[in-house]
Amino acid sequence: MNLVVTYSSKKGLEKEFRDVTQSLPDSDDEPPSTDFFAEGDSMETVNSAMDALRSCGHDVCGFEADIQVQKKLQSHRPDIVFNIAEGLYGVFRESYVPMICEKLRIPYTGSDPMTLAICLHKARCKEMLTYFGIPNPRFVLTDGSDTTPLKKLKYPVIVKPNSEGSSKGIFNDSVAETYADAVKKIRRNTDKYGQQLIVEELITGREFTVAIWGNGKEAQVLPIVEINHSELPEDAWPIYSYEAKWIWDTAEKPLDIFKCPANIGAKLRIKIEETVLKAYRSLEIKDWCRIDVRLDSKGVPNILEINPLPGILPKPEDNSCFPKAARTAGYPYNKMLDKIVQTAVRRYGLK
Ligand SMILES: Nc1ncnc2c1ncn2[C@@H]1O[C@H](COP(=O)(O)OP(=O)(O)OP(=O)(O)O)[C@@H](O)[C@H]1O
Ligand SMILES: [Mg+2]
Repeated sequence: MNLVVTYSSKKGLEKEFRDVTQSLPDSDDEPPSTDFFAEGDSMETVNSAMDALRSCGHDVCGFEADIQVQKKLQSHRPDIVFNIAEGLYGVFRESYVPMICEKLRIPYTGSDPMTLAICLHKARCKEMLTYFGIPNPRFVLTDGSDTTPLKKLKYPVIVKPNSEGSSKGIFNDSVAETYADAVKKIRRNTDKYGQQLIVEELITGREFTVAIWGNGKEAQVLPIVEINHSELPEDAWPIYSYEAKWIWDTAEKPLDIFKCPANIGAKLRIKIEETVLKAYRSLEIKDWCRIDVRLDSKGVPNILEINPLPGILPKPEDNSCFPKAARTAGYPYNKMLDKIVQTAVRRYGLK
């Protein structure tokens, strides 16, 4: 197929940031936080994905999801877009390329703009999960102006930016043990991340991340990945934080915290699978996704969040969890990407 990979590289996001700050009066030319570009992909990931798709016989080129991308897609008119573009600003940033594709009537992999935006708005997504009866930790969404609702929560809590991924804004010290501590962390982070914060009760049971692909009745759960927090430094909170993801875990010295398939009995596995499939269908997710799950004190799987644009770092030692689950199911990197393309092709009824 004639295929275009649309992506947000770290370099591309840095350029976008520079262009925006130069065009706005009084804007700071330093990024507001050290993890500001955390969601961007390295060119190594982008090139590996394009090479892998080429190895499956596709004719592939890649477009940065910048302001020229609509024109480029319009003149190139691929058979399908493989979209991994995360964007930089706002809660609709992941919807940017899918919106353009919808406008140009070009098929694309993955969820539609509405699902991408809802899943990126953690609180809105949790409200929907609750509506569909799917367990998730209790929470308060706040801009810091009225913190009294936080008094109703059970402590400790975790204070997270409402609309980020890649553990952006989730550090070891994002956990607050008291109301006063939570308020302090909210004050510190609302400006830094330029958005509301979601304050969630911390649940500390076993954690899993679950890859799913397919549509309708064919949606299928891949081998479950467990994240073992006991391998984190002793004084760290048992969370898969920014430090755990990007600082303590390096390609040279990978952190040995993943087990795939997770060592769990059939009963728990089936319960987790039922929970994530229900969420996948309720949120109308398309083609592929990765869902984070954690057990509460009663052993019930709760959904922490839904990633309809999961990371796809190519090397096993990168510990990217969707590719890890696919590899365990017998799909090497290129076959995994091709399977996602074929899933979208089938959904659109393309030849
Ligand atoms: N309510 C919670 N209770 C327990 N642990 C939590 C909770 N919320 C987040 N965590 C921990 O923090 C980690 C990161 O949180 P979350 O998945 O919400 O962030 P993210 O940046 O969207 O992640 P991703 O990299 O998957 O996009 C989780 O994997 C989990 O270990
Ligand atoms: Mg997560």
